[in-house]
Amino acid sequence: MKVIAFNGSARKDSNTAIMLNIALEALNRQGIDTELYQLAGKQIHGCTACYKCKENKDRRCAVKKDVANECIEKMLEADGIILGSPTYFADVTAEMKALIDRAGMVSRANGDMLKRKMGAAVVVARRGGCIHTFDTMNHFFLISQMIIVGSNYWNMGFGLNKGDVEKDEDGLATMKILGENMGWLLKKLTE
Ligand SMILES: Cc1cc2nc3c(=O)[nH]c(=O)nc-3n(C[C@H](O)[C@H](O)[C@H](O)COP(=O)(O)O)c2cc1C
Repeated sequence: MKVIAFNGSARKDSNTAIMLNIALEALNRQGIDTELYQLAGKQIHGCTACYKCKENKDRRCAVKKDVANECIEKMLEADGIILGSPTYFADVTAEMKALIDRAGMVSRANGDMLKRKMGAAVVVARRGGCIHTFDTMNHFFLISQMIIVGSNYWNMGFGLNKGDVEKDEDGLATMKILGENMGWLLKKLTE
């Protein structure tokens, strides 16, 4: 069993990565393999609306010059997908939106190829806009027929500068419970 987490932050190893890693560590403790894939410094563009994925039906995006297909491949291999993004102007980062649009369209073109995988969204903000950001990522899971896993609060942490989220004890605790819940459900579904 494997869970892949995508970090849509423009900053590598920053607050969103810290939050994601806590959930991934909780999964590791349950014997589940994990990977953190950080979009920072990588090229990913928005959907060009060529609709070639609908003709090709090869589980790939027809635009091959960025990391979209690498990400889509990792989604296909995984049993669970976590999308993590900081809040930028009350929504996900441009990189995360590009990943959602590209992977989402390819999934729909291929009979909802991600269906029944587990999904969870993780958000960081300095102060406001978390719920809207959270909703954006959950829309991807819901239209893809994925199963959303929750925690004891919405999956959000607060902080501005790199590492600030370490001081948000509630946010970190939410991530630990999220990882525990995702691991529990993954095991139940494969029993
Ligand atoms: C372009 C940009 C827009 C932002 N917009 C918001 C916002 O709408 N609400 C908010 O609370 N924080 C906002 N922030 C702050 C980030 O969400 C915050 O610094 C977060 O910790 C960044 O996560 P990271 O450390 O994983 O990069 C913004 C930051 C940037 C760079």
